[in-house]
Amino acid sequence: MCGIIAARVSDDATPYLLDGLERLEYRGYDSAGIAVRTASGSTEVIRSVSRVGDLRTLVAARSGDALTGTGIGHTRWATHGGVCERNAHPHQDCSGRISVVHNGIIENAGPLRAMLEAQGHRFVSDVDSEVVTHLVERALVVDQDLMLAVQIATAQLEGSWALVVLDARTNRMVVAADRSPLVVARAPRGDFVASDIGAIAEWCETFVALRDGDVVELGESWNWSSNGVAVPVPFPTPSPFAAAALDLGDHPDFMAKEIEEQPGVVAEIVERIAARAADGSMWVGLGLPGFDRLAIVACGTSLNAGQVIATALRGIGGIPTDIVVASEADQAVLGSGTLVVAISQSGETADVLRALDRFEDRFPVLALTNNVHSSLARRADAVLDCQAGPEIGVAATKTFTAQVVVGVAAMVSALVASGRIDRDRARELVAGLRELPARITTAGQVAADRIPLLVSSVREATGFLFLGRGVGLPYAAEGALKLKELSYRWAEAYPAGELKHGPLALVDEGTPVVVIDHGEHRLQAAIAEVRARGGFVITIGGPGSDIPALGPTGPWGPLEAVVPLQMLARELALQLGCDVDKPRNLAKSVTVE
Ligand code: AGP
Repeated sequence: MCGIIAARVSDDATPYLLDGLERLEYRGYDSAGIAVRTASGSTEVIRSVSRVGDLRTLVAARSGDALTGTGIGHTRWATHGGVCERNAHPHQDCSGRISVVHNGIIENAGPLRAMLEAQGHRFVSDVDSEVVTHLVERALVVDQDLMLAVQIATAQLEGSWALVVLDARTNRMVVAADRSPLVVARAPRGDFVASDIGAIAEWCETFVALRDGDVVELGESWNWSSNGVAVPVPFPTPSPFAAAALDLGDHPDFMAKEIEEQPGVVAEIVERIAARAADGSMWVGLGLPGFDRLAIVACGTSLNAGQVIATALRGIGGIPTDIVVASEADQAVLGSGTLVVAISQSGETADVLRALDRFEDRFPVLALTNNVHSSLARRADAVLDCQAGPEIGVAATKTFTAQVVVGVAAMVSALVASGRIDRDRARELVAGLRELPARITTAGQVAADRIPLLVSSVREATGFLFLGRGVGLPYAAEGALKLKELSYRWAEAYPAGELKHGPLALVDEGTPVVVIDHGEHRLQAAIAEVRARGGFVITIGGPGSDIPALGPTGPWGPLEAVVPLQMLARELALQLGCDVDKPRNLAKSVTVE
């Protein structure tokens, strides 16, 4: 949630900040702002409650003191305080000397603010982050060392933070992180900071991720401290992203690009892991203990991917599997011999990380993530990399597909390694995974033909039902999630057998009901019940369906169905004039509970 960028370069910092903010906008887009040091040693703050494009216009229109190469920027997803300019980052201390951008939540902001106000500090915003500026200001009164001031300030904070602190008077810049991602990077053009390596990948080939409790001063040489103790600068890691992967190319939006990339992503994954899945070495290489049960912990689309993996594991190996909605982990009671599989494309989802607080001491944790440098990856006992490449659209598409394929392959590998299935069965399952790229390609082609017309027939509908059974059910859930997320229309997913127990009352003349028809014969009864009430049924299934995109399914169900479902949601959103890459109120990485 929210994006941070900062630069210390020899030329003007603003183009870097604005380009970086544009790449970070998917993390939050309620407001955006920059603070850049001027040649005379003051700070120019420019903020907008609109998109980064408007900030660019404001920057272009400014006049005044020349701007230097030291600056910070932020794109906000509002938590504390409404969406207005004074609540936009960067925030400043009373004198305007200190500017701060912050991601995360300061949980004790209330008492800190009361204490600082009582000492005469003037607050101008409603946001929790502003306390940091005044805490640093207060510490600087006693000692002019910015690094020490930030250490003193962060020691008083409770919650989570990724911070960049700019001191305009001294041109010093200090960053800090605790339970919120932040990376620093040295490049030929200078030093960069970002909440997401993708924002600076164009300029930086390597980076260092801050760990919880780190405070770092950038400059000629970096000063690194961990929980208040000076430590050597960690060795940098190569950037996982080619800058080109972040470009839109000829696509109208990132969601279109990412939907289209799915066959290629799946082909690369299968190529990489097929042999190791079939002989069990993929599992053995993880170094995890054997397990009797699985608990999948995730949110949103990752939870739906987890449902698919759980269904496959139950179907292939008869292994009991619990599904834990991460934000409800308090309610979960896990049995002995459980392996926790935490799934998160970002690896930074706060609900998932808090769920691990409950489980990680008692159960081994396997992370399935698209970010092997994330907080989740660092905390897990073993990590599976989804390798979907950067996903910019807020709606998860290719990461869902990648999670399913990597997760299912790992489970096949675990089953063969533990002798629960033999190698012939494992090879047969892996052969099924190898068919997926072609099946996904075909599904996309069929859907491209059929969906625009179908969507025009249901464009005015205010609500949608999605039905599935058994292995098709997680796909119905994912279809409904995508549709509500993108088009702002109500959408509910139900097991088809539940229809007659309540949801059928919603069906009226023209009510759209999307059915994932993977061939289970009992689905026909639900379809008939909807049609009898005048409902508008859209089947995604085999030949003769409205979207004839599915072949015979494996134990992971009709994975290719997700492509028409994604395209349906996107097309409806576009026909309704919605922004498919940045749906309202949402953010890509949900780092608050
Ligand atoms: C997916 O389209 C959503 N944006 C959302 O449900 C997302 O899947 C969820 O917030 C979990 O994110 P994660 O995979 O990064 O943990």
